[in-house]
Amino acid sequence: MLKIAVFVSGGGTNLQSLIDATQAGSINGEIVLVVSNRKKAYGLKRAEAAGIKAECIKDDQLLIQRLKEEGVELIVLAGYLAIISDELLQLYHNKIINIHPSLIPSFCGPGFYGLHVHEHAFQRGVKVSGATVHFVSEVVDGGPIILQQAIDVSSASSPEEMQQMVLNQVEHRILPEAVRLFCDGKLVVENERVKILWEEH
Ligand code: GRF
Repeated sequence: MLKIAVFVSGGGTNLQSLIDATQAGSINGEIVLVVSNRKKAYGLKRAEAAGIKAECIKDDQLLIQRLKEEGVELIVLAGYLAIISDELLQLYHNKIINIHPSLIPSFCGPGFYGLHVHEHAFQRGVKVSGATVHFVSEVVDGGPIILQQAIDVSSASSPEEMQQMVLNQVEHRILPEAVRLFCDGKLVVENERVKILWEEH
């Protein structure tokens, strides 16, 4: 079982989808640590409720130390709003996964996080949106794309409604799926592109 750390800053519904998938046995991995940069992040409570170590860590060296102590092999950013240091990026090259609530390269990059993404998309009047799971590189939202899924958001009457549609219909499905593929060794990065070794049927 691969040892996973999940980083959160907010409500942690994506974390919950990972907790549920690991508990159901559909991921060949175990969440050994949940980290937040915000003490009040509800995601920490979700981790505690599931019996997972939950810690508020702001110092980068301490963060790296804790990851090493726990033997973490994969980091998942699930709504984590802090910068990942160069040192951590190098230590976990192509081993940090992020979920972004748009179809990259639309509505991404510096300043595009959380509800802001959907405010821009709603304002632009997009009819189709979705989410992207990607590896984290030094370029914001610029790392190799793992999975994407689009949905029709034309019925959304506000950015908040669009956010809920993308969260519930896409994010909670493709994030556990990407983590499952990683844990099964099915993701290969070649020339900055991810090749998925899909199961043979
Ligand atoms: C999600 O929309 C995620 O894509 C973005 O932040 C939000 C976090 O939601 N990066 P939650 O904390 O997982 O509920």
